[in-house]
Amino acid sequence: MEQSLLTVENLRFNSAFKYVADMNLNAIIKMCKEEKFPANTVIFQENTRGERLYLILDGRIKITKVTKYGAETVLAYLTKGDFFGEMELLDDQVRSARTTAVELTSCASISKQDFDNMLKSNNIIQLNILRSITKRLRSADQTIVNELDRTVEISKQHIGKLNMLIDAAKTINSSLDLDKLLEIILETAIKSISADRGTLYLQDELKGEIWSKALRGSEVIEIRLPLGKGLAGYVAKTGEIVNIPDAYNDPRFNPEVDKKSGYRTNNMLTMPMRNRDGKIIGVFQMLNKKGGPFSPQDEEFLNALSIHASVAIENARLAQEMVQSERLSAVGRMASTIIHDIKNPMGTLRVYAQVMKKKSGNEEAGKLADEMIHQVDRFVNMTQEILDFSKGVSSTNIEEVEFSETMEGVLMFIEKDLTKANVKLEKKLNFNGKVKLDQDKIVRVFYNIAGNARDAMPDGGTLTVSTEDIGGMVKIEFTDTGTGMPEEVKRKIFEPFVTYGKKHGTGLGMSIVKKVIDDHKGKIEIESELGKGTTIRIMLPTMQA
Ligand SMILES: Nc1ncnc2c1ncn2[C@@H]1O[C@H](COP(=O)(O)OP(=O)(O)OP(=O)(O)O)[C@@H](O)[C@H]1O
Ligand SMILES: [Mg+2]
Repeated sequence: MEQSLLTVENLRFNSAFKYVADMNLNAIIKMCKEEKFPANTVIFQENTRGERLYLILDGRIKITKVTKYGAETVLAYLTKGDFFGEMELLDDQVRSARTTAVELTSCASISKQDFDNMLKSNNIIQLNILRSITKRLRSADQTIVNELDRTVEISKQHIGKLNMLIDAAKTINSSLDLDKLLEIILETAIKSISADRGTLYLQDELKGEIWSKALRGSEVIEIRLPLGKGLAGYVAKTGEIVNIPDAYNDPRFNPEVDKKSGYRTNNMLTMPMRNRDGKIIGVFQMLNKKGGPFSPQDEEFLNALSIHASVAIENARLAQEMVQSERLSAVGRMASTIIHDIKNPMGTLRVYAQVMKKKSGNEEAGKLADEMIHQVDRFVNMTQEILDFSKGVSSTNIEEVEFSETMEGVLMFIEKDLTKANVKLEKKLNFNGKVKLDQDKIVRVFYNIAGNARDAMPDGGTLTVSTEDIGGMVKIEFTDTGTGMPEEVKRKIFEPFVTYGKKHGTGLGMSIVKKVIDDHKGKIEIESELGKGTTIRIMLPTMQA
């Protein structure tokens, strides 16, 4: 049998029974029930009725309360010589906290009735219990004060972070210039979470890439990463937060990056920048937090900053568009005046040419007159196009056409033009079917594309035009063997006034093309390689049988 710990010595060791006579203790032992609680046993729960007083003979217990927010707070640890469970016996209320054995714990317990009698009959026990309760009250006061101090400290930190965020939001909203803005956002992020340096990537949804600008020497270069590639590309794709506390001991970090840059990365935080709707619009990559790895608070802060940053970026983009359209409408107003003034003399010229042809009776002069008429028509057409574009006129003249006929017709004209420029036209027309479209506009699209292809082959070459049924759509491809175009031109080609490498380009051709294709609910794609050539691919919805 196990030895009982319920002895006079052990009882006297308890703070309730200091200086109590052996005789009395012997009598108390008789009232006691000895119990053993294995580690983690809940001895009593909060809010239950209190029936007994417990005296700890050996082991350790903890008294805990669960807060409104679910966290467990330890009010006290008690060991051999302490007692617990007296409060409910004295004030007849429910248990105010939970008590759990921390390790194997032996207790002697006394019933409420016996406890009452004991107190009534023994002044020393009264005094002892009073002293203990007073001591505990003091210690509880201190615990509360400590807890308050801690909460105030945490609140202060939170307020500090909030103020930082407000300041950051203000700074971020101070610029509408996108490049400048990205710089400000990055600087703010670096400063706020004490990083040494960082990169801010933005999503290019069209291309499925992220991009960033970086300084190489004195030159600003653009870095592009496909989604999924590199750590930043991975984060952009998955939305995962990658917090690396020790770069050189983490397989997710690629030391090659440091080798190239000559920088030494110790810790690193890569996380998505999301807008208000939770959509990923970019990636923050922060390096080397001062004094240790990035914390969950840093992640939280960047998250909060993201929302402000995304609004600012959106605003900057809108502002850019507004400036652009303002510029366009100014050009439009100017163009209408000029075109108005030009159309009349052009009309006159056209009539004179016709008269010349009729009256001269000379074949050579007739041909020249025809050419004059043709050029005048082209000129008027072109100016009309600029006018339409600047006014934002949309397709209105949609009709059902036999697509191959339209195509053959256009190609006949294009071929003449190409032949003069020493460019061969190859046709691979495999689509036969009807399409609803605005003929005039689509014809202009094909002219513009073929014209660009011709310009890109100053020393001649081949333009291959193909059509193909791809189910619900007709795919039309113009592939040239020309110069190809730089990435920057390709990226901006649909923006008005983007022209490159031409003496007299207005840079409107492809933006008109894009608008017409959009109006037809079609799609357009560009593939281009410098020195090899370019393919412009258009998809137009067909009329399904
Ligand atoms: N097939 C192509 N090959 C190489 N570069 C091209 C091709 N198509 C377009 N580009 C590039 O894109 C730019 C923009 O084309 P766009 O047709 O919009 O304007 P443009 O030809 O310069 O002027 P516009 O057509 O208004 O007279 C061109 O200046 C050229 O640099
Ligand atoms: Mg053009």
